[in-house]
Amino acid sequence: MSVLIKNGRIITASEDYVADIFIEGEKIKTIGRDLSLQADELIDAQGLMIFPGGIDPHVHLDMPFMGTFSSDSYETGTRAALYGGTTMVIDFVLQTQGDSLKNALKDWRSRADGTAVGDYSFHMAVTDFNPETKLEIKEMVEEGITSFKTFMAYKGSLMVDDRQMVGLMEEVKKQGGIVTTHATNGDMIDFLVAKHKSEGKLSPLYHYLSQPEITEAEASARFADMISYTKSPGYIVHMTCQGALDAIRDSTFRNQKVFAETCIQYLTLDASLYEQDFEGAKWVMSPPLREKKDQTALWAGINQGLVQVVATDHCPFTWEQKQLGKADFSKIPNGHPAIEHRMELLFSEGVHSGKISLNKFVEVSSTNAAKIFGLFPQKGTIGIGSDADLLIFDPEMEHVISVDTHHMNTDYSAYEGWKLKGKVKTVLLRGKIVIDQNECLVGKGNGRFIKRKKVTGII
Ligand code: URP
Ligand code: ZN
Ligand code: ZN
Ligand code: ZN
Repeated sequence: MSVLIKNGRIITASEDYVADIFIEGEKIKTIGRDLSLQADELIDAQGLMIFPGGIDPHVHLDMPFMGTFSSDSYETGTRAALYGGTTMVIDFVLQTQGDSLKNALKDWRSRADGTAVGDYSFHMAVTDFNPETKLEIKEMVEEGITSFKTFMAYKGSLMVDDRQMVGLMEEVKKQGGIVTTHATNGDMIDFLVAKHKSEGKLSPLYHYLSQPEITEAEASARFADMISYTKSPGYIVHMTCQGALDAIRDSTFRNQKVFAETCIQYLTLDASLYEQDFEGAKWVMSPPLREKKDQTALWAGINQGLVQVVATDHCPFTWEQKQLGKADFSKIPNGHPAIEHRMELLFSEGVHSGKISLNKFVEVSSTNAAKIFGLFPQKGTIGIGSDADLLIFDPEMEHVISVDTHHMNTDYSAYEGWKLKGKVKTVLLRGKIVIDQNECLVGKGNGRFIKRKKVTGII
């Protein structure tokens, strides 16, 4: 099978030019002007942009969490991702405390393998670092799971203490991986949740007020300090605020690098959404949405190279599932649906509104995640020999986000009625046309588990 894409405007993290792309099998074979090669499929991309397929390194599909499961399966979640131009996701395996990493990985792969429509990999969330877990790190890296997630919050379920964190960092460094973290102070949050509940303050607003900026700034600084001490690579997931950004900016003066990921919601939505009775539960996530000044700081952080990745933390629940916390904000399943709209939102709100450049758009939506997590140059760029994961995009087409037209398995949209400029037209995954004109052309099992390489922490 071969595909020839004619006259597209090819945008990578560093280039911007018009050319033809010839694909043979799963890979890009040739890029050049006026290629006259015979192909099974011909795509006319005149007037359109071509980006590397998006990589969302922070999603939770079919995840057991807070007494329920996130509502997108690997099938519905990765299909929705493809509709939005994201060809690969990295999900999180959660170790059960007292059990092995191997068993957890087996469990997660049993839900994903043969189900996912787009490509996928996993981070391993270590929730119990002990002598047995330590021995498994090497094995995980050999399996292509080269990033290890920790939670500094969710006390009593997922949280690790600093002793475990430092031990994990040392071992992961030795084996060629990277430690990532949910950086908020679990003890402080636990205190504030209990305090608000004891005062009868039970609405979604108190979810927000139980996780003030200081809880994230403190944990981000602590994580950066431990990374500095262990000299291991580090990455903070879903960074939301100026205080956390300041903490990692400070760490750069030690000539160390802590990578930072923000998520599309923290760039586009703010905490005023919590000021409405239970409706605010739609945006209950951890960390919570912040203030306008934090959005400005995050956009600036992207341009300053302090924030390398824009992900989603896609963790959808239906409105019925959100009702679990109707009488108590601390029982609202945390997370919101976004996997489908990350690229289009980032393009419209970032590129069209003049906040980031086209090259920066590619960098933070695809290339940097590929580099940080050991996928580059197989994924994350448009180059000879790379996987032909391509997003053909109409930069001027306008559309409106709605639950009536989205493909995620949730009965509400967190961005209902948002008018965007720029729309996905055609998506290719490993040389195959998977989305064309609002139609998905492949089914369950089309996605592949991608083994990742060792990582260095330098990109
Ligand atoms: O609210 C969130 N973020 N839910 C998913 C779990 C996590 O903390 O990433
Ligand atoms: Zn988290
Ligand atoms: Zn998450
Ligand atoms: Zn325009």
